Amino acid sequence: MSEKMGKLRRTNMCGNLRSNNIDDEVVLMGWVQKRRNLGGLIFVDLRDTTGISQIVFDTEFSEEAFNKADKIRNEFVIAIRGKVVERHSKNQEMPTGDIEVFVKELKILDESETPPIYIKDNDDVSDTMRLKYRYLDLRKSYMQNNLKIRHKTAKIVRAFYDNNSFIEVETPMLTKPTPEGARDYLVPSRVNPGKFFALPQSPQLMKQLLMVSGMDRYYQIIKCFRDEDLRANRQPEFTQIDVEMSFVDIEDIIKLNEELLYEIFKEIKGIEIRLPIRRMTYNEAMNKYGSDKPDLRFDFEISDVSELVKDSQFKVFSGTVNSGGEVRGINVNGYENEFSRKGISKLEKYIKTYGAKGLAWIKITEEGISSPIEKFLSEEEIGNIIEKFGGKAGDIIFLVADKKKVVLDSLGHLRIEVAKKLDLIDDDVFEFVWITEFPLFEYNEDEDRYVAKHHPFTHPVDEDIELLETAPEKVRAKAYDIVINGDEIGGGSIRINNSELQEKIFKALGFSNEEAWNKFGFLLEAFKYGVPPHGGIAYGFDRLMMLLTGMKNIRDVIAFPKTQNATSLLTEAPSEVQKSQLDELNISLLNKK
Ligand code: AMO
Ligand code: AMP
Repeated sequence: MSEKMGKLRRTNMCGNLRSNNIDDEVVLMGWVQKRRNLGGLIFVDLRDTTGISQIVFDTEFSEEAFNKADKIRNEFVIAIRGKVVERHSKNQEMPTGDIEVFVKELKILDESETPPIYIKDNDDVSDTMRLKYRYLDLRKSYMQNNLKIRHKTAKIVRAFYDNNSFIEVETPMLTKPTPEGARDYLVPSRVNPGKFFALPQSPQLMKQLLMVSGMDRYYQIIKCFRDEDLRANRQPEFTQIDVEMSFVDIEDIIKLNEELLYEIFKEIKGIEIRLPIRRMTYNEAMNKYGSDKPDLRFDFEISDVSELVKDSQFKVFSGTVNSGGEVRGINVNGYENEFSRKGISKLEKYIKTYGAKGLAWIKITEEGISSPIEKFLSEEEIGNIIEKFGGKAGDIIFLVADKKKVVLDSLGHLRIEVAKKLDLIDDDVFEFVWITEFPLFEYNEDEDRYVAKHHPFTHPVDEDIELLETAPEKVRAKAYDIVINGDEIGGGSIRINNSELQEKIFKALGFSNEEAWNKFGFLLEAFKYGVPPHGGIAYGFDRLMMLLTGMKNIRDVIAFPKTQNATSLLTEAPSEVQKSQLDELNISLLNKK
């Protein structure tokens, strides 16, 4: 049975009724969250996007409504007209807990089958069910709230850039491969058989062209597509706040974007972040935290003890140092008694996944030292190590010997794992840092050549340009990332605006001029005609929203996300297509599964 709204027009929202509405006649519309029949009275929690009001069916108020109410079930869509009264037993937990609405008229607008998932915030249902029935999952109040905060943040972003003379320009979705370096999503062209568009991994080249066009300041909230391994903070289809500015250097970009972050955190979280945001060079971040996205909510800085153990009898240490490796460690100060042998061996297993071969440790207790490597090291060596870490009773020092990369990676992860285990990570604290002076190039062992760490249009630090030919690994880039609580929220750079320098970079990357023109010819052609100095940044909007809403998974801030396997359980995309469609596209399948 379903009825029309008829003359009923919604007057109020369910979540907004308060004691000042008492005696009002209201019309509410929404979903039945819960129904309880107590004999002569039926109570219903009625829900809309603003919240819940308790409505009451009482034979004395309306026998007809009462009789109809007996039929309604969870998730029926109903409209009611009734009178707001003061609630007898007030409910402090609900914003509308001071009132209830006695119903004079009920219309059942649509019935519902029993929903396959509960519409409540902590329902422990599987991710599969949540994604398959996403429209039901989105009825939950926290999911509604996440999308509202996302909307509000987008509004702040748009207003901010608008106030600073940026204009939003749309860029194409059907385009050429962009230089971010992930795999592309390709789209076949029917009218050009055998040819493919790539969906943009970012609007990088288009926004640079807009600067060549003289647009001066551009921004866009825009979808990007990357076919890469997915994680808790990665989606194949995600959103960037993408920005580009002309006639600027790093300082201009950082300063303006700090003001945006300040506004967002103030408006959304009520937190006034301290400006300027601290900065750390890439080298410092790697050496101290083993990561270019350090979580600065806790300490445990990495120290290098290679020099102290290079002549040690303990071959694991001295041998590593003498063959070009390093020994470094962290002092988990004050938590010695939190680590049992079993606990440590779990940590050792954990860091082995990052390539470490072992995890040595030194406990400093009131009674003295306890360590599995005590017997291999001299008293002086142990003393020196402890001194280097400022160790005192109650501390435990963890050490790893290996190639530098493995040492830093393992200790970087160990640091976080230990902080998690000790429950030292406070989700209400936000630690911001700009990471600067990234290396321009990174050596790719598989390809046996240098590749651009950011992208090949990134400007080198001016004084390092002369090193391009002699020591490319030493060249720093005018690139920066904004890192919040150990997550890379955004990144950008100053771009090259001079073809001579651009050619040098291509050469260092081992691109022939021809290859460069094949890939990015349209940009290089444009760069012949007067290019302003320019640079920009792109934020991962979804990641920013994870931080602002306190969600641990990127899917919880996206209305219709993909699974870990880049599929949609809701629409069942991607799906097979008809042979005729493939024929039209001049595509045949290899029948490989
Ligand atoms: P970059 O590749 O660093 O830079 O991307 C910018 C930001 O986008 C976010 N991000 C992602 N978020 C969710 N899922 C993904 N798969 C994903 N990949 C990236 C990150 C990242 O910091 N064109 C340059 C920017 C520039 O130079 O202006 C670019 O795209 O938060
Ligand atoms: P072993 O002599 O192999 O039993 O190692 C003695 C201790 O040194 C153990 O606690 C190992 O975990 C540790 N260890 C072994 N290899 C390394 C390494 N590469 N880095 C740090 N500790 C190690």
